[in-house]
Amino acid sequence: MDVLVSVRGPGDIAARIYRQLRDAIEDGRLRPGDRLPSSRDLARDLVVARNTVATAYDALVAEGYTVGRVGAGTFVAADPRPSGVGGSRPAVAASPAAPASAHPAFDFRLGVPDPRLFPVAAWRRAMADAIDEALRVSPGYGDPAGDPGLRAAIARHVGVSRGVRATADDIVVTAGAQQAMDLVARVAVRRGDAVAVEDPGYPPARELLAAAGASVVPVGVDGEGLRVDALPADARLVYVTPSHQFPTGVAMSPARRAELLAWADAHDALVLEDDYDTEFRYATRPLEPVVRLDRSGRVVYVGSFSKTLLPMLRLGFLVAPARLLPALREARRLAGWHGDAPTQLAMRTFIDDGGFARHLRRSRRVYRARRDRLVAGVERDLAPWLRLNRSISGLHVCAMAAPGVDAADLRRVAGRAAELGVAVETLDAYAIGGDAAEPCGPAGLAMGFGMIDEPLIDEGIALLARAFAEIKPRRP
Ligand SMILES: Cc1ncc(COP(=O)(O)O)c(C=O)c1O
Repeated sequence: MDVLVSVRGPGDIAARIYRQLRDAIEDGRLRPGDRLPSSRDLARDLVVARNTVATAYDALVAEGYTVGRVGAGTFVAADPRPSGVGGSRPAVAASPAAPASAHPAFDFRLGVPDPRLFPVAAWRRAMADAIDEALRVSPGYGDPAGDPGLRAAIARHVGVSRGVRATADDIVVTAGAQQAMDLVARVAVRRGDAVAVEDPGYPPARELLAAAGASVVPVGVDGEGLRVDALPADARLVYVTPSHQFPTGVAMSPARRAELLAWADAHDALVLEDDYDTEFRYATRPLEPVVRLDRSGRVVYVGSFSKTLLPMLRLGFLVAPARLLPALREARRLAGWHGDAPTQLAMRTFIDDGGFARHLRRSRRVYRARRDRLVAGVERDLAPWLRLNRSISGLHVCAMAAPGVDAADLRRVAGRAAELGVAVETLDAYAIGGDAAEPCGPAGLAMGFGMIDEPLIDEGIALLARAFAEIKPRRP
């Protein structure tokens, strides 16, 4: 372990070396088991006598901070602390704060797919090969749009699974959907431009647009998706999740899709289509993405591997009209040049050799079973209080409050459910301007099934029904 020790300044050099190493151990920069440099090496680096370093090391050993192993060197002790009573560190580290909700027994929260479904063995193989290949073929900087092989693979994937007509040249590989949206904001949004977002909607998208200097205008969502009739006439860009509106779960109706494109044409605006989780679909005839209907280059289509694999990979992409691509590629170059080559190559192999398709088929079976169980449970046990929205894809469902139930009731129910070990999310958390004190937007509960095992779903729903019955007893 390289340690930066300074011996400048007046006073005893051995004491200074001792103090700096002790501080590094106490605040965790040096961890148990770390090897200190040999006294000979450190003395040479600091240009001090070896005995000076040895004196400091002896003091650290005597205080219990380090242990010496003959022939191996000096190591930070497994439980480094002064051997005397009243040392500067507490004898027992405080246990980390663990709020009850960190690992709820019945986890219906939105967001992350099941990491246990991640195809570890196949991904490990693909990564090992990819590291070799990257070292051989592209150890330096590559194409800012992303590895051409991966772009070709993504083009085939979205062509087959989503009917999106794209070639490798239409695609920019990004660090998740979030970066795809960031690039679009950089090239298509100027400070002060009005941009429309769904309300309720996906907070990171609107936060990003606001950070880009846009004037963000919330636009309501109904049973057919974004209310195109409520779009502000001066919007330059409209952010939408048409396939599975986040968080209400509704799919935008075909009529509304046509209306949105006609609106964008008439107002010379761009549509940012976030198709974040539609690989998991449960209807026989999935709706096509809006980009399929785009005849005039109005739509930037954004996809992500965060739900199909895991967010940790930070892999996403965009498919853009030709006129925007040069600027988007340039923005990607400026934003870190490109993603790391091994991950891109591994993803390319994983798509090309069919592993990704197999993984999707397997995951879809698991999620479908969970979703069917959840939908049946909500309809069976929660009917007095909730009405399920019809959604045909994704990893969560959403239910709106039945007549007589309001947002405040739902927040109380969610609070009581949390005490019972059940985590659910209220929609007002996603409404713009909504907060606990002053809720706004539609009242509803969103329930994810990415993290909950199928056999636990019935019990979770039964506990949720208990919370409802306590807070909002059914009328006789
Ligand atoms: C609406 C929406 N868009 C996009 C994403 C994925 O973002 P990213 O690809 O940056 O992880 C999510 C993930 O939760 C999401 O809910």
